[in-house]
Amino acid sequence: MKMQQDLDNLKKKDKIFIKTFGCQMNEYDSNRIYDSVKKIGYEKTDNYQEANCYLLNTCHIRDKAKEKVYHEIGRVKKLFRFKKKPLVIVAGCVAQAENEEMLKREPYIDLVLGPQAYHKINDTILNFNEKKKKKEETEFDAVSKFQYLSKFQNKDGKVSSFLTIQEGCDKFCHFCVVPYTRGPEYSRPFKQILDEAKCLADNGAREIILLGQNVNAYNYEGYRLSDLITNIEKLSEIKRVRYTTSHPKDMTDDLIEVYKTSKKLMPLVHLPVQSGSNKILKLMNRKHTVEEYLNTFDRLKEINPRIQFSSDFIIAYPGEENQDFENTFNLIERVKFINSYSFIFSPRPGTVAENLHLIDKTISIERLEKIQHKLFENQIEINQSLENSIVDVLGENLTDDKMKVFGRTEYMTSVIFNGNKSDIGKIVKVRIKKSNRNSLFGEIVSNSNQKVA
Ligand code: SAM
Ligand code: SF4
Ligand code: F3S
Repeated sequence: MKMQQDLDNLKKKDKIFIKTFGCQMNEYDSNRIYDSVKKIGYEKTDNYQEANCYLLNTCHIRDKAKEKVYHEIGRVKKLFRFKKKPLVIVAGCVAQAENEEMLKREPYIDLVLGPQAYHKINDTILNFNEKKKKKEETEFDAVSKFQYLSKFQNKDGKVSSFLTIQEGCDKFCHFCVVPYTRGPEYSRPFKQILDEAKCLADNGAREIILLGQNVNAYNYEGYRLSDLITNIEKLSEIKRVRYTTSHPKDMTDDLIEVYKTSKKLMPLVHLPVQSGSNKILKLMNRKHTVEEYLNTFDRLKEINPRIQFSSDFIIAYPGEENQDFENTFNLIERVKFINSYSFIFSPRPGTVAENLHLIDKTISIERLEKIQHKLFENQIEINQSLENSIVDVLGENLTDDKMKVFGRTEYMTSVIFNGNKSDIGKIVKVRIKKSNRNSLFGEIVSNSNQKVA
């Protein structure tokens, strides 16, 4: 009875504000959390002022992640100092790592939910509203999470939509918290994913980005990532398929082969190598060598020379000497990555590398700057080479001033072009007029989806 009253009250007025940090999977999770809390009457708001539930979806990958969350909670406290306190929920990877500690340290927090406990969110909220009892839910239960979430249709409807197919990691790279915050590798049932892809396509998705911390380790009763790609691209509404993030060790033959046959798989392979030195890769427990990485690169290039690579790099990992750094530099010259992320090693609590001897800060920064300079040089050169040529762009949305269209090339490069609403969701031909490191600017030439008379 009381629960029903709560539900009726919630239906009238509850608004949730979700702030998301971290990777694409957190973005996907935030959308799914919203799909769930909608069922107990919450409406999403982009204006925290009117929210009575404030949810932080957190990331633990680098830096002072934990302190940043407490700082953020401090900010929320200030924002609401003249208002009724909202229900404050901390979700995501910091929630998982810190669990009940968060409730002890910061009484302003009401609920703490780890990434594999989102199936409990509605009950936890309703229970809190009834009994005001703070709670922490951080069990790894990926099966229940996805079974529960698949009951709510994913009607995300964005032109480019994320779809998590795999979660967690068994690789235990020595620097990384993910195996501790996302738990063991779990692959969602094949059919559950295909149903979700269909639903996304029916609701406006034209590109699907398959997600997983180790997306190419996907294995459900023998179905692999290559099977998902082959099946999803059969959906006529879907124009492009991508996947991220893959591990070099899981670039299996079937996945490489699918590049020969697939019509919609994009020619950009995001394959983090982390370092160009075998010594460092071994110290990192990466389970692959530079030669194996280059072998995958060469095989894919042979199948389709248009394929480009992007990567993540960790610079100044403990033990990295000048020669190791040079090797990373040389690898970048050899592969000519189209776009990459690079970070100075950040020791993470609970990982093997937590207490290793750090490389001097000045040297670390110098190395990072050198690497980034090289990576940016590549990016600028590639973008400049596209000036005056025509590229295929998937229109995603209007720019903020509504005067132009934002879209992406096959290689994920941002393009701003003169166009209108009708170009959204379509692949259009754009002549590139100008470029900078991150973006291309151009004019529409024709709409490649239009039938030629
Ligand atoms: N699973 C992916 C792989 O194996 O390459 C990476 C996932 S991780 C969420 C994203 C990136 O964060 C990593 O590729 C790595 O470059 C970076 N990263 C992870 N832990 C880090 C740390 N302790 N310090 C600096 N960068 C880190
Ligand atoms: Fe982290 Fe990726 Fe290594 Fe897993 S494979 S531990 S997610 S870097
Ligand atoms: Fe961050 Fe967790 Fe993603 S630590 S990068 S939100 S898996």
